[in-house]
Amino acid sequence: MLPNVSRPNATDHVPVLADEVREALAVEPGQTVVDATFGGGGHAELLAADLGGRGKLIAIDRDPEVRPYFDRLRKRTGVQGRFLRGEFSLVLEQLASNGVHADAILFDLGVSSMQIDRPERGFSYATDAPLDMRMDPASELSARELLNTESERDLTRIFKDYGEERYARQIARAIGRRRRERPFERTGELVETIKTAIPAPARFGDGHPAKRVFQALRIAVNDELGSIEAALPTALEMLRPGGRLAVVSFHSLEDRTVKRFLRAEERGCTCPPDFPICVCGHEPALRALSRRPIKPSPQELAANPRAASARLRAAMKSEE
Ligand SMILES: C[S@@+](CC[C@H](N)C(=O)[O-])C[C@H]1O[C@@H](n2cnc3c(N)ncnc32)[C@H](O)[C@@H]1O
Repeated sequence: MLPNVSRPNATDHVPVLADEVREALAVEPGQTVVDATFGGGGHAELLAADLGGRGKLIAIDRDPEVRPYFDRLRKRTGVQGRFLRGEFSLVLEQLASNGVHADAILFDLGVSSMQIDRPERGFSYATDAPLDMRMDPASELSARELLNTESERDLTRIFKDYGEERYARQIARAIGRRRRERPFERTGELVETIKTAIPAPARFGDGHPAKRVFQALRIAVNDELGSIEAALPTALEMLRPGGRLAVVSFHSLEDRTVKRFLRAEERGCTCPPDFPICVCGHEPALRALSRRPIKPSPQELAANPRAASARLRAAMKSEE
C-alpha cells in the first residue's frame, strides 16, 4: 500500500491512474524524476513525496500558465528541482545532450482540466470563446488558422483519424461552405456548423455533437502524436539502466504509438524477419511492466469520468 499524500483540490487537475503510475515508476529517495507533462502537478506531487526530501524533480510543460503550480508545489513539498517550459521532445533532447540522466520519466498526455476549464483557451465546446486550442500560446498554429486554411479533404482526415468522427466529410464540407462566407473566429460558430452538418438523431446520441471534432482539432493544432513519437527514443536514452518509463494516453492512436515503440525496444533485434540468424546484435532495451495497458478502476471512473479513456503503459530500461 502506497502512503497517502495530499491530493489537489477540486479546481486543480485530478491525476489519472495516480496510484498505478506511482507503482509503475517506483520512485525512491535520492532519484531523479522527470515529469514531462507537469500540468497541475498532481502526479508530480505524489512522485515528489516518494523522493522523500532527497533527489530531484525536473518538470516540463509547454504551457506557461503551469509555472505557478510548480512554484507552489516546490514551496509545499520542499522538493528540489526545476521547471522547464517547452515542447517535451525538444526539452528532453536538450537535457540528454547535456548528459542529464533520469530514474523515472512520466508522460501524462493530452490537455489538463485547467486548460479545458478556462474558456478563453478555446479547448471547450461548452462555452463560446476564440478558436485557439494552443497548449503553448506562443506557437504559430491556432485552431482558427487550421480551420480556415486546411483543405476540406485534410479536415476530413483530421476529424476521422484524430476524432473517429463518423460524419467527418459532412462536417468538413459544412465548414468549407461556412468559411467561404466569412472565416471562423469563435468556438460557438464551429459548434453551430457541426450541429447543422450531422443528421438530427446523431445530435443527441454519444455525448456532445462537437466533442470528437474538438478533440481532433486539438490533437492536430498541438501535433500531439508527432511530439510523443519524437520524445520516446530520447526518454529511453535518458533513462539509467533499471530506470522506468510510464505513459498515460487518452487516444487509441497515441496508445498505439506507445505500444509500437515499447514492442520494438523490447524485441531488440532489427534484422528482417526472413534472416535465419540475428546479425544486428541489438539487445532488448526495455522490458514492459505489463502486457496489457492498465485502465482506471470502476471507483476511479465514478470519481473522475474524465479518466474514461486513459491507458497506462510502463516499462523498465534493461540493465547493462
Ligand atoms: C494531462 S495534463 C498533465 C496533468 C498532470 N499529470 C497532473 O497530474 O496535474 C498534460 C499537460 O502536458 C502538457 N503537454 C502536453 N503535450 C506536451 C508537449 N508535447 N510538450 C510539453 N508539454 C505538453 C499540457 O500543456 C498539459 O499541461
